[in-house]
Amino acid sequence: MTNSRIPGFYNLTLEARTAKLGDAAGLTPFELGRFTDPLPTDIALHMVENVVGTYSLPLGIALNFIVNGRDVLVPMVIEEPSVVAGASFMAKLARAGGGFTATSTEPLMIGQLQVLDLEDLSIAAEQVLVNKAEMLAHVDTAESSLKSRGGGARDIEVRIIQESHIGRFLVVHLIYDVRDAMGANAVNTACERLAPRIEALTGGRVHLKILSNLTDRRMAKATCTIPVKELEFVGADGREASPKGDVRPFSGEEVRDGIIAAYAFAAADPYRAATHNKGIMNGVDAVVIATGNDWRAIEAGAHAYAARTGKYTSLSTWGKDKDGNLVGTLEMPMAVGIVGGATKVHPAAQAALKLMSVKTANELAEIIVAVGLAQNMAALRALATEGIQRGHMSLHARQVAIAAGAEGEMIEKIAMQMVAEKVVRIDRAEEILKGMQS
Ligand code: MEV
Repeated sequence: MTNSRIPGFYNLTLEARTAKLGDAAGLTPFELGRFTDPLPTDIALHMVENVVGTYSLPLGIALNFIVNGRDVLVPMVIEEPSVVAGASFMAKLARAGGGFTATSTEPLMIGQLQVLDLEDLSIAAEQVLVNKAEMLAHVDTAESSLKSRGGGARDIEVRIIQESHIGRFLVVHLIYDVRDAMGANAVNTACERLAPRIEALTGGRVHLKILSNLTDRRMAKATCTIPVKELEFVGADGREASPKGDVRPFSGEEVRDGIIAAYAFAAADPYRAATHNKGIMNGVDAVVIATGNDWRAIEAGAHAYAARTGKYTSLSTWGKDKDGNLVGTLEMPMAVGIVGGATKVHPAAQAALKLMSVKTANELAEIIVAVGLAQNMAALRALATEGIQRGHMSLHARQVAIAAGAEGEMIEKIAMQMVAEKVVRIDRAEEILKGMQS
């Protein structure tokens, strides 16, 4: 059983941190090594074309998560400071309310076939529907590893696009259960197999045959209830609100209402909703990337879903329950897999899945939306209280110190001095470094 509470993790050396992680999640030194070893070139060579090297990003561990009653240590791959800390801190607050409850739908993907050159769209649509069972059976006669795992064609639907640059046309949707795969290849193959049948049935010409990234049949939802007293604000990560006293403390009720007002802004205004959802995707993408999944697919699905009513809006909701506790939900398309593609061949992605002990793609999707919700809360809480910059500043200052050439203990010293002076610039970091060296 994993314990996702590891006090003092932040202050440990890399080696000590790795050892703690191994103990907490039962990973072997070999598996832990997969996080630190670069992607082997021979694997990279087979992943994409014209390879000349590999490119690394930091992998941090979000602590404190409980998802559906289970402690989980969450790997996050991201270049932005404060994201891992923000998720961990909010998961700690959520822990006091039992953590995150998450659900997900069956892993149903949608494949689209665009049918052109039809004389009567309604008759063609009817033909497709009347012959649905035969076509589903035809798609499923092809041997596939997904079928042996219980996946396969589930349904066929038709839509008529009434207005477009080329006039009216028919769209056939193939609903396909991909089980634990992300499923793009399986769905695209199934669409190509279905196309000649659709042409024979309708007398039309099938043009595009491709999955839709608006995977609104493959959704994941997380909720959390944060006891209002947990929201009392004394400063980032529980430190004093501000050493200079220029940020006042906030009561739990004030923070809760501030988060709800911030949500109201995103729900009503697309300009704010884009930024609000970007904060959610900070958490979502980081886990999607760590597990070797296709983050562009997840991004595309998220934003299309956020605009499903014709007006782009917030992916999450925030309100309060009858006891005044803060209640958050996040529901979004989540097409992630744990078999096939980079999830299978990337050693660090394999170790990431092992770390979270996920046995199904649904379980992974549920963890990801929980992290997205935590990340959203971290941003709203900061914005509703001290603002985002103070929290960002110390990590940013460390990056600037490193860029100026600082190493070891000097990094922290220089960063702290720049934050205290409120001058976080490379020239200042270089000056302080020179002073220290002489
Ligand atoms: C920054 O990466 C993300 C935020 O802008 C999200 C938000 O404004 O809610 C802080």
